[in-house]
Amino acid sequence: MTSASKLLFFVNGKEVEESEPDPETTLLQYLRLKLKLTGTKLGCGEGGCGACTVMISKYDPVSKSVRHFSANACLAPLCAMHGLAVTTVEGIGSVKNGLHPVQERIAKSHGSQCGFCTPGIVMSMYTLLRNNPLPTRADMESAFEGNLCRCTGYRPILDGFRTFTKEYCQMGENCCRNQKFIQCNGNGNIEEGLSSELFDSSKFLPPDSTQDPIFPPALRTDKYDQQSLTFMGERTTWFRPSNLQELLELKHSYPDARLVIGNTEVGVEIKLKNMVYKTMIAPTHIEELNQISKDSDGITFGASVTLAVIEETLQEAINEHQEHQTRMFQAVVEMLRWFAGHQIRNVAAVAGNIMTASPISDLNPLFLAAGVTLTVMSKDQGKREIVMDEKFFLGYRKTAVKPQEVLVSVKLPFMQQNEYFFGYKQANRREDDIAIVNAGIQVLFEANSNSIKGMRLAFGGMAPTTVMATKAMKNCVGRKWEDDLVKDMADWLADDLPLPPGSPGGMTEYRRTLCISFFYKFYLSVLMQIRQRLPGIVHSKVPTSHRSATTVFQKDPTKSTQVYEEVASGQPEHDPLGRPLVHLSADKQASGEAIYIDDIPLYENEKYVAFVTSQKAHAKILSIDPSEAMKIPGVVDFISHKDVPGHNMWGGGPTIDEKIFASEKVLCMGQVIGVVVADTQVHAQRAAKVVKVEYEEMEPIITIKEAIEKGSFYEHKSSISNGDLVKGFEMADHVVEGEVNMGGQEHFYLETHAALAVPKGEDGEMELFVSTQNPTETQHVVAECLGVPANKIVCRVKRMGGGFGGKETRNIAFTTPVAIAANKLGCPVRCMLDRDEDMLSSGTRHPFYGKYKVGFTKDGKITALECDIYNNAGHSLDLSGAVMDRALFHSDASYKIPNIRVSGHLCKTNIPSNTAFRGFGGPQGMFIAETWIEQIASTLDISARQVREINMYNEGETTHFNQPLLQCNIKRCWNECLERSDFCNRRKDIDIFNSENRWKKRGISIIPTKFGISYTALFLNQAGALVIIYKDGSVLITHGGTEMGQGLHTKMIQVAARTLKIPASKIHISETSTNTVPNTSATAASASSDLNGMAIQNACQILLERLEPYINANPKGSWEDWVNAAYFDRTSLSTTGFYKTPNIGYNFETNSGNPFNYFSFGVACSEVEIDCLTGDHKVLRTDIVMDVGVSLNPAIDIGQIEGGFTQGYGLMMLEQQKMAPNGFLITRGPGNYKIPGFGDVPGEFNVSLLKGSVNRRAVYSSKAIGEPPLFLASSVFFATKDAINSARLDAGLNGYFQLNSPATPERIRMACQDQFTKMFPEAPKGSYKPWFVEL
Ligand SMILES: Cc1cc2nc3c(=O)[nH]c(=O)nc-3n(C[C@H](O)[C@H](O)[C@H](O)COP(=O)(O)OP(=O)(O)OC[C@H]3O[C@@H](n4cnc5c(N)ncnc54)[C@H](O)[C@@H]3O)c2cc1C
Ligand code: FES
Ligand code: FES
Repeated sequence: MTSASKLLFFVNGKEVEESEPDPETTLLQYLRLKLKLTGTKLGCGEGGCGACTVMISKYDPVSKSVRHFSANACLAPLCAMHGLAVTTVEGIGSVKNGLHPVQERIAKSHGSQCGFCTPGIVMSMYTLLRNNPLPTRADMESAFEGNLCRCTGYRPILDGFRTFTKEYCQMGENCCRNQKFIQCNGNGNIEEGLSSELFDSSKFLPPDSTQDPIFPPALRTDKYDQQSLTFMGERTTWFRPSNLQELLELKHSYPDARLVIGNTEVGVEIKLKNMVYKTMIAPTHIEELNQISKDSDGITFGASVTLAVIEETLQEAINEHQEHQTRMFQAVVEMLRWFAGHQIRNVAAVAGNIMTASPISDLNPLFLAAGVTLTVMSKDQGKREIVMDEKFFLGYRKTAVKPQEVLVSVKLPFMQQNEYFFGYKQANRREDDIAIVNAGIQVLFEANSNSIKGMRLAFGGMAPTTVMATKAMKNCVGRKWEDDLVKDMADWLADDLPLPPGSPGGMTEYRRTLCISFFYKFYLSVLMQIRQRLPGIVHSKVPTSHRSATTVFQKDPTKSTQVYEEVASGQPEHDPLGRPLVHLSADKQASGEAIYIDDIPLYENEKYVAFVTSQKAHAKILSIDPSEAMKIPGVVDFISHKDVPGHNMWGGGPTIDEKIFASEKVLCMGQVIGVVVADTQVHAQRAAKVVKVEYEEMEPIITIKEAIEKGSFYEHKSSISNGDLVKGFEMADHVVEGEVNMGGQEHFYLETHAALAVPKGEDGEMELFVSTQNPTETQHVVAECLGVPANKIVCRVKRMGGGFGGKETRNIAFTTPVAIAANKLGCPVRCMLDRDEDMLSSGTRHPFYGKYKVGFTKDGKITALECDIYNNAGHSLDLSGAVMDRALFHSDASYKIPNIRVSGHLCKTNIPSNTAFRGFGGPQGMFIAETWIEQIASTLDISARQVREINMYNEGETTHFNQPLLQCNIKRCWNECLERSDFCNRRKDIDIFNSENRWKKRGISIIPTKFGISYTALFLNQAGALVIIYKDGSVLITHGGTEMGQGLHTKMIQVAARTLKIPASKIHISETSTNTVPNTSATAASASSDLNGMAIQNACQILLERLEPYINANPKGSWEDWVNAAYFDRTSLSTTGFYKTPNIGYNFETNSGNPFNYFSFGVACSEVEIDCLTGDHKVLRTDIVMDVGVSLNPAIDIGQIEGGFTQGYGLMMLEQQKMAPNGFLITRGPGNYKIPGFGDVPGEFNVSLLKGSVNRRAVYSSKAIGEPPLFLASSVFFATKDAINSARLDAGLNGYFQLNSPATPERIRMACQDQFTKMFPEAPKGSYKPWFVEL
């Protein structure tokens, strides 16, 4: 045994030595702050997004080989890197020295929009290829289970990387399979002028493993593995013992020490639960804890063996042994498929899972059901064995292992032939999500009989520990495996697993139903197997219609097509307009060289702020005491409302109603009270947590329903009436009433709010670098709070790592305190919010509630609609009024409603201020409309499709706000989508499938969207641009729009290139800044290409006119010649451009004028399959036809369609905000808030752009695309409703039912009512305190 005094490891081939590493420092912090390798991003800090993915390589002295694995740098302790090699995105390629093929392909296949997720995804792919140069498509798709992207919808990433896989045809895009996609009208011919090629894979760099960085020869030794380490930090000491004895002695001396292997639990406890562990012991290098051994009873795994290695080993055993022997192993492998992502499984160990004793651990139910044996050891008591049974877990996160003991190994048993074993897990999202409920169930039969000898059932998610259903286990002994067992087992399980309403986790009826549904699945699966094994003995049989209930989830590799119109054959080569030009920052994003706010190099004497936010939803502030915080090393100051030199008030919308720093009162949890300024982020955050605030609590209003009850509304009231409502209802054959809720949605941009304020030291000047969609408003509010005119403040935005509306106003709440701190201290100050802070404080999409009454004829023609729409605005008005206005404008969806009154009400509540989010109220208005459309269909017993067709707008008809629909392509999109999706035939197939399956159901739905383009606030419909031509002919453009991944700058360069008639390569956009283009509108409302494109076109035309004399004088000359001539002739080569949208402006009072410049249209058809027993679903196929006018850039437009659709899918199927009744936000990170992942891409995803659409009202006939596609995802929601309907019909339930959005597994399962759900009727509202409320 030796010991090392220094930490030594390699990063990108270079040796790194650290003599005093702090055990609390993560690898990510070290890479970014110390090594300045900022390509690796911080997206969440809790292992949930993959933005921080790196490759770690380790030499194995036994096999003399190197193991490469992906890992989350945000959870990897720096101290654990001793003797390892780390590769970051910078280590594999760069724009300067050449991209790696992985970087090149994600960029060229349009797989990078905002780019913040891209380096992490690159590193997941790179690691896969290092281990397996020719992976299968399934391997490739699985590699990204731990990565999230909020922009792309994943399809382009998978498409680009599919070129690395075995299945990829060497013919590339010319492959016959691709050609087929264009034969979309079913006539077997390729349609003239259409293309399905968004990139040319023949031009990709070939993979070349010889160029990969080599594993450092200095690490090819067992020297480092054998060294013991001790490192002391500010608060924590880290020990890495090198043998078992040393480990036992350490644990003896420090019984409270935390053992750390993968740090995937401990790291999260430190980061999110503020735990401080004085002593940490890493048992990662103890031989006995890393051994794997087999004997005749089973396989024994050392406690430090990682889950990835367990998976591999068990898979090998499954291949080698008889099927029955490995039934438990099969269940473990299947469970591990859904256990976190690769980055976690590669480092997390089996001991970590058992010893955390989490009630929702995925492995513990399996281990209890199998009765696995643990070996534990301590210095005093030596070795002992423990069988995992109902006595193992003593309480919440407590086990029968004593404090001085360490877990040494875990033995998983082989099974007997008459023994069966299955595992079950239901989560909100299938991939990388924690369980709602999970289970392990084992049954042993008497020899050659279906008589139960013993059964073990263990459940997670039903109590503070994993529990065993002991009563059911006892009562079932001796019973035959026949159908009558199910009812009795259900009753016993219900007794064994009580869960009072309001229990932590909520969803109590669902969770109880799930336990019984799991058993029922188990019953059917075992029945199928024993009938086969013991024919004649078993009498019950599984009806064919029930068989699909037993199949495990399978997802085939995804398929997709993208069809768009090619540019006219005569278009000059250099004219990029209409071509699928790659996002101009894509290469830098893929190589990690693109700079976001927190990547800007540190300034001299720079400080960091951390926020002190309210812990109460509604309270008086009695006192604020920062004295403890001031004692923390590195802390410089505490800043509060007393430090604001100008105004402490601002408003996200037209009303100034919000405080920068709360002073007397707090109005929501997460409201900013002050900031601590310190030398580092770590110190600032530690200090912010100990600032004491005393409150006197007042009653909060949290939900829409509470606000209605208490009459808590903002004054903004808007209403649109048209026609004669009384007459409309008289004309109706039927009148129905209903209501529906649509939940809010967290923006989850990958880059959280971030700002850097740099005081210039002269005249009160300050430069702001902010991740904002709204530099102008940011500039103005900062000027006001500092008490200086706006001309002293410059706000600069290079790019954002996503915005989606969340950075339209809310960034100001975080930028102003940073600026005030910088102003007070006279030094640069920075802040990037942690994910939990961002989710807690920054507001979301508005939750909506709609209450309607609709009249219609017996044919389904709408005659009248009366609808009240409420949104949950939060503690300040922000943009809630405008969001509501848009909801009202879209409350007709795509249908003509002759007599109508729609009214909007803004609920004033004590939650963070809700704000803009892609769609801006439009999707909510349309969702309510599509809900009553479904109710009409259900009432008349006709198809919803028919109701939609009967009422769909025709060309020239006017909306309820009296705007005529010109160039109305909705019906064209509809018919084309019906045809492309083969709707009618698939409808028939689905009906057949449903008649043959009781527990799996399919549904299909086709939904149109009509989206009005323009800001509804008239004055915002203006834009400016500055175009500069330099002497060398290069062109620099600045315009009012910001780049947040949507490809705006790329499109703007295409517009300028077309107008100036020069190649795009001569044009550059560096950033958006308030000192180049002033008084800009936020980049929002989908209108930025329209507005800024026109302003740029205007400026370019002015310049072109100035150049004309020189062109005419030298027609054969080059661009550079003309520019040069103009310069020497003293002609100005720079100008501004301006644009304001003509003929718009609407008056609510008179219901006249046009709120919109024009409309974008689209239609989507989706098919879904649900599991009626669990509520799980998968999207089998989606077809979209979208009208984008003449596309400026089909790759970007298709990217927006797919990304918008995927975000909408999250809104309507996955993303459920959970807030406690006291206003405490439960869903504060990717761990418990699930946005769509790679696994959620529809099995088949076809997008086509409507051919031949021309829009005279926007630049070069294009159409806005950012927001319109989002609502198309409601086709998945309504397809799911269709599937549920079939299940309800089987259960004898006829008629309409309400389904709120999102359609989570809970809602799907509980809507599929059956004998199991009936056992757990919903507790009456008001009889208990719910764990979370419907906002
Ligand atoms: C993004 C993410 C996703 C996740 N998904 C899942 C999931 O799907 N299912 C699931 O079940 N879990 C999940 N987890 C939880 C976690 O990854 C697992 O519990 C994992 O197995 C923990 O292993 P570790 O080695 O990282 O534990 P560590 O964090 O290193 O340690 C965890 C605990 O185990 C104790 N311990 C470790 N070794 C020993 C030993 N030899 N003797 C005694 N005590 C010991 C430690 O003291 C500590 O208390 C997830 C975590 C994250 C961050
Ligand atoms: S930052 Fe590490 S996983 Fe999100
Ligand atoms: S490109 Fe993936 S998060 Fe923006």
